[in-house]
Amino acid sequence: MSEAFINSLLSQMTLEEKIGQLNQYAAWGNFDPEVVRQGQAGSVINAAGALTGSSQSESCTAETCNHIQQFALESRLKIPLIFGRDVIHGYRTIFPIPLAQAAAFDPQLAEDAAAVAAREASSDGVKWTFAPMIDIARDPRWGRVAEGSGEDPYLASLLAAAAVRGFQGSDYSAPDKIVACAKHYVGYGAAEGGRDYDAGEISEPTLRDVYLPPYQAAVKAGVGTLMAAFLDLNGVPASANRRLLTDVLRGEWGFDGFVVSDWESVIEVIHHGVAEDRAHAAALALHAGVDMDMASRAYIETLAASLQAGKIPLEDIEEGARRILRIKQRAGLFERPFTDPGQAARPMMTESDRALARRFARQSMVLLKNDVDILPLNPNRFKRILLTGNFLHAKGELFGCWTPDGRSEYVTPLDRAVREVAPKGFDLWEADYVDQALDHASQCDAVVLLVGEYPNRSGENNNVTDLGLPPGQAQFIEAITAMGKPVILVIFAGRPLALGRIVPQVDAVLYAWHPGIEGGAALGEVLFGLEAPTGHLPMTFPRVTGQVPFYYNHKNSGRPLNSPNFFRIRYVDSPSSPLFPFGYGLTYTTFAYNNLRLSSETLQGSLQISAEITNTGSRTGTELAQLYVRDLIGSLTRPVRELKGCQHVTLNPGETRQVTFTLNEADLAFTRADGTFGVEPGRFQVWIAPDSQSGLQGEFSYK
Ligand code: BGC
Repeated sequence: MSEAFINSLLSQMTLEEKIGQLNQYAAWGNFDPEVVRQGQAGSVINAAGALTGSSQSESCTAETCNHIQQFALESRLKIPLIFGRDVIHGYRTIFPIPLAQAAAFDPQLAEDAAAVAAREASSDGVKWTFAPMIDIARDPRWGRVAEGSGEDPYLASLLAAAAVRGFQGSDYSAPDKIVACAKHYVGYGAAEGGRDYDAGEISEPTLRDVYLPPYQAAVKAGVGTLMAAFLDLNGVPASANRRLLTDVLRGEWGFDGFVVSDWESVIEVIHHGVAEDRAHAAALALHAGVDMDMASRAYIETLAASLQAGKIPLEDIEEGARRILRIKQRAGLFERPFTDPGQAARPMMTESDRALARRFARQSMVLLKNDVDILPLNPNRFKRILLTGNFLHAKGELFGCWTPDGRSEYVTPLDRAVREVAPKGFDLWEADYVDQALDHASQCDAVVLLVGEYPNRSGENNNVTDLGLPPGQAQFIEAITAMGKPVILVIFAGRPLALGRIVPQVDAVLYAWHPGIEGGAALGEVLFGLEAPTGHLPMTFPRVTGQVPFYYNHKNSGRPLNSPNFFRIRYVDSPSSPLFPFGYGLTYTTFAYNNLRLSSETLQGSLQISAEITNTGSRTGTELAQLYVRDLIGSLTRPVRELKGCQHVTLNPGETRQVTFTLNEADLAFTRADGTFGVEPGRFQVWIAPDSQSGLQGEFSYK
């Protein structure tokens, strides 16, 4: 089958059938088979409940999807539906939230996790996921930071491509693969004030160099679909932005898949104030390049009349239908519209899936502070340990946002999971209440405080004005630390929190994010040192909320932050620096960086940069060496640092190894003052570093 098949199919389709393909049917409990039988739907979202009457969180099942698919095969041209669902960081095997995944800085793990999610979801009939979410985010007040990879375009691009490979494989017609959807195109993370759905303003160079690269990486990796964002970007609703949806995406990048709107974002262009009514909104969105209308029904209700009235060209409808049919064809749906019951019977959450989830959780945890090497816990130093805090018995709370198919009954409660992995020799106590915790703390050798945000404090539309811990927790920490025992603070959260006042009070801080189904065991393994934490921050951690938006790859300004002069960027009530910079993360040993070497003083084609890293501690450990660059003089101002590479290196105590990075000419390209993309001659600084604020610095020139 090929394009010829699609063209021949299109030639047999009525106008209504073509428009039908553009409609994504959201039925919830009131599924009407006739919509499908009449060819009025190209896709069904969240296909739960056609048989039963459903709730939003009810899973798809192969039986339900097959039942609905049968109606499609009873339609005149028997065009199969594609079933779409939000499979964001796992289907039944819930992996850490995407922001936590980013902290692992490990694209292979992200790819493997997406492959597990694809296998599980496809066995329930889901052939299309609305993931990966690859929106750059510089403001952690925005709840959806949890769903993305943070603030850095290089890391986000690596992870975008990895997720696409994991979901889709090399051929997404394979029964255990699903079509990916890169979302939310584009600039969604720039919503002002961190308010989800609000408007954003992004300059063209920043859009090109920061927000668009992860999408370009996803397209390069072969992503089948994209989702248009809700927001108004620079005065144009993203779902009606022809320049970005058509000129850039298809014209410049050659994307030939389809674009789906976000939930009713087609008709929301009326609220944005650029369309008068549903017909106008539908015409604008379709012409901009939104091929499929998620849930609003505006396409199916208005496009035929708009065509007759001469308000839209037939090609817009035909091109949308063609793109959708193309992806269905690539997904193998014409040959295999049904989910094989054998596939449906396959077990989910297998031992190896859970092992992967545990490993991912461990590797995403970031050790932010570890005074006097309190961690890993050693029973000869701290025998009686108190576990307390609002996450003590957490189960489904470990999942984080967007897990409609996670099942908390499969999660071992946190305290039990920690006990199960605890080596012999510890005496683990627990306290459920504050007073009990205070009482027990005085009788224990150390306290592990398990605090943080519940999942519904982050994710869609869950924004905060205060990046502190949720109300009451800071007082609890203060009361516990007043007991004078060493305190290890473990924080579960869907975003960077502002912990400027908290961190100095405690002896150790481990950032666990929302770690997923194996979060408890992973935490235990890290606390007791069975494994070392190796995560690094994918976002800048501010001291106080008022510092955001805050990101490492900012511009220098004329009065730079770190200048010794009085007239520099500063706050009168807080240091200007972050509490922890992007890329930061400790482990159970220490490393020294020495002997930075550049293969040449000038980059011609490419340049090798190397450094020696030594494990200066007493335990084998893994370091994340990071390569940063700064373009010192540009036709436009350039960021103070940009990540261009990262490598894990595992070293025994005392061992030294050289890490080498290759920097290519293309890595120095940016959007220049004249709007073109390329490299400018001049001097550059380069670092091999353990985070975005330190490291060994060198210099080279280009041309
Ligand atoms: C979200 C999308 C999601 C869609 C379908 C919207 O509200 O913004 O991220 O994929 O719903 O559930």
